[in-house]
Amino acid sequence: MTKKVLVLPGDGIGPEIVAEAVKVIEALNREGLGVELEQGLVGGAAYDAAGSPLPERTLEQARAADAILLGAVGGPKWEPLERALRPEKGLLGLRAGLELFSNLRPAVLYPQLADASTLRPEVVAGLDIMIVRELTGGIYFGEPRGIRTLENGERQGYNTLVYRESEIERIGRSAFEIARKRGRKLCSVDKANVLEVTELWREVMIRLGKDYPDVELSHMYVDNAAMQLVKWPKQFDVMVTDNMFGDILSDAAAMLTGSIGMLPSASLDAHGKGMYEPIHGSAPDIAGQGVANPLATILSVAMMLRYSLDAGAAAERIEAAVGRVLDQGLRTPDIMAAGMQQVGTAAMGDAVVAAL
Ligand code: IPM
Ligand code: MG
Repeated sequence: MTKKVLVLPGDGIGPEIVAEAVKVIEALNREGLGVELEQGLVGGAAYDAAGSPLPERTLEQARAADAILLGAVGGPKWEPLERALRPEKGLLGLRAGLELFSNLRPAVLYPQLADASTLRPEVVAGLDIMIVRELTGGIYFGEPRGIRTLENGERQGYNTLVYRESEIERIGRSAFEIARKRGRKLCSVDKANVLEVTELWREVMIRLGKDYPDVELSHMYVDNAAMQLVKWPKQFDVMVTDNMFGDILSDAAAMLTGSIGMLPSASLDAHGKGMYEPIHGSAPDIAGQGVANPLATILSVAMMLRYSLDAGAAAERIEAAVGRVLDQGLRTPDIMAAGMQQVGTAAMGDAVVAAL
């Protein structure tokens, strides 16, 4: 059966890295994968072309697709725009519009890249953490929000951190299910000592835990979790947390591997439809130079095949091919090390296709 994938290259290095991921999909198509690709506009590129970071047409295309492959959005060019028109709004609008509430962000250390981490090898060797971040609620979307002027003329900024029980429950179930397929350990991260909303979060997680007796549930305050991630990251298997804590902790976890250019992510709805993107951003400083690492985007294709397109075998082939090009010593500048062969974006993509 043909599956439809919407490709949204976005801004900065987005178009370059997505082009390599498309090469990989096309190579698999030649062997009968059956993925139909369609291009769309999002972020600053969409603003430039259509006056909105998320044109209605893009949202329609996204709704009609089985999965979405996204590059990255944002860049200094669009920073002066009012908030509603900024590229990030395109990304947030897709997450909300498609109800992609479950964001999976793996932090895996490739043995070939053990030296890339700034942490000692024994601290990170074999690292394999999955952060499950709630993606459509919390302070990112809570109302009321804004900047208002008080009676004395002083301005005040405000946002609202809210979670309904049902929202906590669905991200909790998502995380428990994932833990079940991995090391059966789930750490829920909150700030229950200060914030009522996360006191409720913890209560719901404990309640859910009764349905998953085979998963070992623990709880950690977010400040401690940040510290533990740097101190002894291998204590974690799956972590589940809210939108903002997840934003922060997932960047920290990604950097433990020393190669944020290697990490994919998935954002899923309740039915397994998803948007897939590299964890890194649009890297405007190196855009257009052909030096960006396409592997995170290529690995995002693997996640897409596994989670949304029911093509686990093809996903494994891609992951194995990435392992092989690393074994061959090919490195983009971000993961370059002594004795390795430096290559650009396109050469790396071609090497993965050849290794398939
Ligand atoms: C991320 C990014 C986004 C977020 C930005 C670009 C809106 O940092 O995906 O982690 O904060 O969620
Ligand atoms: Mg982030």
